[in-house]
Amino acid sequence: METPRPYSLLCELTYRCPLQCPYCSNPINFARHTDELTTAEWERVLAEAAALGVVQAHFSGGEPLLRADLPQIVRRARDLGLYTNLSTGGTLFDEKIGTRLREAGLDSLQVSIQDACAENSDRLAGGAPSFDKKKRAAEIAKHLGFSLTINVVLHRQNLDNIEAIISMAEKLGAERLELANSQYNGWALKNRAALLPSRAQVENAARVADAARQRLAGRMEILYVLPDYFEQFPKPCLNGWGRVFMTVAADGSVLPCQTAREIRGLQFENARGNSLEKIWFESEAFQKFRGTDWLPEPCQSCPRKEIDFGGCRCQAFLLTDDATATDPVCSLAPKHHLIAEALVAAESGAETDLIYRTAVESLRIGKNLPALQRGIEPAKILNQY
Ligand code: SF4
Ligand code: FES
Repeated sequence: METPRPYSLLCELTYRCPLQCPYCSNPINFARHTDELTTAEWERVLAEAAALGVVQAHFSGGEPLLRADLPQIVRRARDLGLYTNLSTGGTLFDEKIGTRLREAGLDSLQVSIQDACAENSDRLAGGAPSFDKKKRAAEIAKHLGFSLTINVVLHRQNLDNIEAIISMAEKLGAERLELANSQYNGWALKNRAALLPSRAQVENAARVADAARQRLAGRMEILYVLPDYFEQFPKPCLNGWGRVFMTVAADGSVLPCQTAREIRGLQFENARGNSLEKIWFESEAFQKFRGTDWLPEPCQSCPRKEIDFGGCRCQAFLLTDDATATDPVCSLAPKHHLIAEALVAAESGAETDLIYRTAVESLRIGKNLPALQRGIEPAKILNQY
């Protein structure tokens, strides 16, 4: 089969962030990856991506607004003919930067908010006041004429507020509301006991989202996808490994998936030393789980293998210690009991304490820390966050 070309590039411009969400998609040991690509390097990455066939560039972080060169990077992407989208926590977004991004040609803006209740939203973002700034960012974005998406990661500690969340997005004039149930990899997996909802919560939220979708048809698009723990079969994570998506991380590592750094033993090439084309077509990391030939049983003989590609590689590794295993979310997977057990525990819902995504926790939990092994002072790393 001919290798497909990537369609979408995720540019994780920085791992620095003023917020500390306990379900962050950055790697657990993000604090060791401090050597960010320069403006010129990002411009080269974008040009190579466009030449490779990419049509969309998504800028995220960390907090991408911490990069002073963001307007320049966005402008370069637009000059290359790419559709551009920015995901921001919103706390650093004001009229001035919004205007500069508008002038640079930014197509759409996504503001993440943790909950419709200020107190809970601030708590989930790490404690410092951020809710009002986020709402203000959304208002400014609308005022400047951006197409606005509000993104809310859903979990046990905010799911019951889903009606209020929808109403908040409606009042903010969002064109789109992404109700993204937390994916339990990385930080969210560390916090799973406190974040995994009960089945009643998930089903109620689905009903509310469905009714709102009908009521708001034509005014606000609502995206609500069931968390995969509650499904019979896994989702086609990434639409298949190395088929559509490519991520370039803050330090230039080129990843098939933004969470792929959690897969121990997988080596990633860096955009500094290789072209994206070479990495996409030839690197071990991109080839490893591409297609379906590598799939184990029961996937290999399963009629759904071209639909879900055996599920999520990161989830398979993080739950079973084997990235080639069938995603345990699948009801046919040999290790499906791991999901069933987590769901039983979630019904009791006892745990509420969260591990926040701080540089201190990153250094504490991330076991394999070359920076520390090389004798670099933790304080030096922490100063950068
Ligand atoms: Fe998908 Fe594999 Fe489960 Fe079949 S057995 S549904 S291919 S994960
Ligand atoms: Fe990495 Fe699914 S999150 S493959």
